[in-house]
Amino acid sequence: MTWRVSARKERLRYAVGMRFPFAVPIVALLAAACSSSSTSGPPVPSPTADGGDAAAGDTWDSYASGFFTTYCVECHGAGNPKRDFTTPADVRRDEALIRCGVAPTLLSGCSGTPAPKQFPISNAAGTNPKPSDADRTRLVAWLEGGAR
Ligand code: HEC
Repeated sequence: MTWRVSARKERLRYAVGMRFPFAVPIVALLAAACSSSSTSGPPVPSPTADGGDAAAGDTWDSYASGFFTTYCVECHGAGNPKRDFTTPADVRRDEALIRCGVAPTLLSGCSGTPAPKQFPISNAAGTNPKPSDADRTRLVAWLEGGAR
């Protein structure tokens, strides 16, 4: 399983490098900046602080933005030319991929590519945080509820 994910990551990086030659160093820089801050920086607020069971009524502001900040923005940050997950626009555009690839198990409507739990991929050091299954399910519920 691990080799498939890293092979995919390399392929994706390659594809980005071709279309956005400037994007690879940016991603590498962000990953480097983030892996150091994850060991020595301030604690990252956890979106599961309230138990992770409050899907009904979740909004971008109350829940989803925290999820993306914690698990995705280290690579999909502001100014990322392909996916900037600091605002809801690119999240809604990629909703189908995110739903299938964040979910803890294969959902109906998903082909298996991306695989369940594919996102977030690991950074080079393998140090970035990964959501619990409850958090994954809650994010899927927010998407299925209209991603508002
Ligand atoms: C360690 C870096 C990293 C993290 C963390 C990360 N990604 Fe990515 N992701 C990438 C790279 C690199 C690509 C390839 C460039 C692109 O398509 O944006 C990518 C691609 C994607 C794609 C497109 C996949 C496809 O099949 O085209 C989606 C959707 C995505 N990421 C969602 C997420 C979500 C959601 C999270 C957080 C839960 C996340 N990523 C966390 C690095 C990361």
